Amino acid sequence: MLATNNLCFRYQDSPVLTGLNLDFSAQAVTGLVGANGCGKSTLFMNLSGILRPQQGAVLWQGKPLEYSKRGLLALRQQVTTVFQDPDQQIFYTDIDSDIAFALRNLGVNEAEIARRVEDALTLVDAQHFRHQPIQCLSHGQKKRVAIAGALVLKARYLLLDEPTAGLDPSGRTQMIEVIRRIVGQGNHVVISSHDIDLIYEVSDAVYVMHRGEVLAEGAPGDVFSRADVMAKAGLTQPWLVKLHAQLGLPLCKTEDEFFSRMRNNSQGHTS
Ligand SMILES: Nc1ncnc2c1ncn2[C@@H]1O[C@H](COP(=O)(O)OP(=O)(O)OP(=O)(O)O)[C@@H](O)[C@H]1O
Ligand SMILES: [Mg+2]
Repeated sequence: MLATNNLCFRYQDSPVLTGLNLDFSAQAVTGLVGANGCGKSTLFMNLSGILRPQQGAVLWQGKPLEYSKRGLLALRQQVTTVFQDPDQQIFYTDIDSDIAFALRNLGVNEAEIARRVEDALTLVDAQHFRHQPIQCLSHGQKKRVAIAGALVLKARYLLLDEPTAGLDPSGRTQMIEVIRRIVGQGNHVVISSHDIDLIYEVSDAVYVMHRGEVLAEGAPGDVFSRADVMAKAGLTQPWLVKLHAQLGLPLCKTEDEFFSRMRNNSQGHTS
């Protein structure tokens, strides 16, 4: 179980997170949305034990997180984070070593490492630039490498901070597939993004953050239908929610579902 209990965090004198009670274990995919500077990345760094709350706690398996070397190692074997900036987590110049690094540290055997690296690079579509030095990659390519580096760990919780920022449309589609696959294996995903359509499509539950607090929480369709909440948080509604709210069209979770329902409706009218 990964959750927070009244978590408060400040950098020097400025409070950033105040009284957060979040639970990431209730649903497979939890989405986090909020304007620039509302505290999403700071929250991710608290959840991964890089930053420590001054009040309240990160709860891991029902207990406050232990910040000893052993406690953090135990957390990081089960909770993996892909940070917003890929440069923050790429350490090697060659991709294979970089992705295999954490697995080697954990003592996983080389045959298993090779399998997992191969699979992760294919999933994020990074095979064609696999042999380039990392410092020569574009931002989006580095992001794919960082995501692959997290996937190989097969953690119970994958925390994704803006995973599609800088990715092209096919990278975005692949990210959705990656999330579905992780969830299909019984794991949890926590994802922050400014791509509200993506969050709406992939999340089972969402938290809307505003200045370090939770403004609203619940099922994405319910929360994102509340125009007042979205406006206060500085967000726009997903387009599928707008079609429902403004034109009374059926509320669909994905573009495919929407077009298929509209097609069926119009065939119903013409026959
Ligand atoms: N290292 C730091 N020292 C001091 N203040 C910081 C530091 N990092 C972030 N902040 C401040 O904390 C607040 C929250 O920043 P954070 O990066 O968590 O927001 P965010 O929701 O991830 O924003 P974005 O959508 O731009 O990624 C901001 O006001 C930011 O200026
Ligand atoms: Mg951020």
